[in-house]
Amino acid sequence: MRLLITGGAGFIGSNFIHHIIKVREDIEVINFDKLTYAGNLNNLESLKVNTRYTFIKGDIAEPKDVEDVFNKYEIDGVINFAAESHVDRSILGPLEFVRTNIMGTATLLDVARKYFGDDAEKRFHHISTDEVFGALGDSGSFKESTPYDPSSPYSASKAGSDHLVRAYGRTFDMNVVITNCSNNYGPYQFPEKLIPLVIKRIVDEKEIPVYGKGENVRDWLYVEDHCKAIEKVFFKGKNGQTYNVGGNSEKKNIDIVNLLCDLVDKRLSRDISSRKLITFVKDRPGHDFRYAIDNSKIKKELGWEPEVNFDEGMKKTVEWYLENGKWVDDIISGDYRKFFSKQYKERLKSDRS
Ligand code: NAD
Ligand code: DAU
Repeated sequence: MRLLITGGAGFIGSNFIHHIIKVREDIEVINFDKLTYAGNLNNLESLKVNTRYTFIKGDIAEPKDVEDVFNKYEIDGVINFAAESHVDRSILGPLEFVRTNIMGTATLLDVARKYFGDDAEKRFHHISTDEVFGALGDSGSFKESTPYDPSSPYSASKAGSDHLVRAYGRTFDMNVVITNCSNNYGPYQFPEKLIPLVIKRIVDEKEIPVYGKGENVRDWLYVEDHCKAIEKVFFKGKNGQTYNVGGNSEKKNIDIVNLLCDLVDKRLSRDISSRKLITFVKDRPGHDFRYAIDNSKIKKELGWEPEVNFDEGMKKTVEWYLENGKWVDDIISGDYRKFFSKQYKERLKSDRS
């Protein structure tokens, strides 16, 4: 079976490729990725010589790029990870999010529809987020039936892509499934996202920016568990269905940051606590207060549940980033430095004034 994995050079996509190549010897992977600032082929270095893995550079929003790959390889299924994925970047520049996440998903669906024809075996799996549901208050959790209510240009563009996938399923009888997952953490995550960013700031002994009062809550899932959920849904999920995926692991941001300070300090045998680096900065506009996933559907119907508990996952993650300092330094490009200074210098300044 030949799978087209889009966005496979990013965080979750590259973890998924490693996972699926390892556990399914019958699978061949075509990794189709534009290699934006977030795409990094170093993540897949060890697969370069694997005959079941091929990389093609291309843009999901360019019909010709997508057609070329379908023409060249007989594709049996698509898993669409490709996206602009960072909320803060979507606030600084929303249009690239609309282009890739909405137009890109539409282009991919449209080409897949043509090539898959009426073959009901050929599945299109769209990777999405719990952010499409908007914000929760102190209680409750997102179910598959929760109405969409996105707050950021990122989550609105992901909501748009989910609607398109469902619409192509209903209108053109395509075999589609969607997974909406909570916050992932683990190896190969770009250091603009909370956990790897904070680890890097602690190592460098620099201010750690915490938005607002750090009271916002996210429901964390170790990336390997997400990959296992995607595998289950791709092979066993029901046509036309959506599955929520989450770790049953709600944490306040400030608790995560404190924990990371303590874990890194211990590992580096530091005498002074890095908690002194914590700096409360201006809040993210439209910042969703809390996310929590009800994962009872995927648990009941497909037998998936998270296996890595939060404390164990965080220790493994800290260890990975400390051992892979070169990976972090290599991915921090000029583009990232520009984004970081725009983002944080303003936030830090506004906090002090
Ligand atoms: P990421 O930013 O690390 O990786 C995205 C990848 O997509 C990169 O390799 C990038 O080069 C590629 N890409 C971007 N635009 C492209 C385009 N036009 N054509 C082809 N490739 C393109 O993202 P991630 O964190 O790995 O997220 C992957 C998917 O999972 C996204 O769809 C995201 O919305 C979703 N998701 C992420 C999380 C999370 O916590 N990170 C949680 C739930 C869902
Ligand atoms: O919920 C799933 C989503 O999780 C995915 O769809 C997104 O692709 C992914 O980026 C992630 O979005 P978040 O906005 O929740 O993740 P981020 O790591 O950017 O922020 C996590 C929380 O930490 C959030 O409440 C904002 C806060 N934060 C973030 C950064 C980068 C800070 O306080 N300081 C920071 O420097």
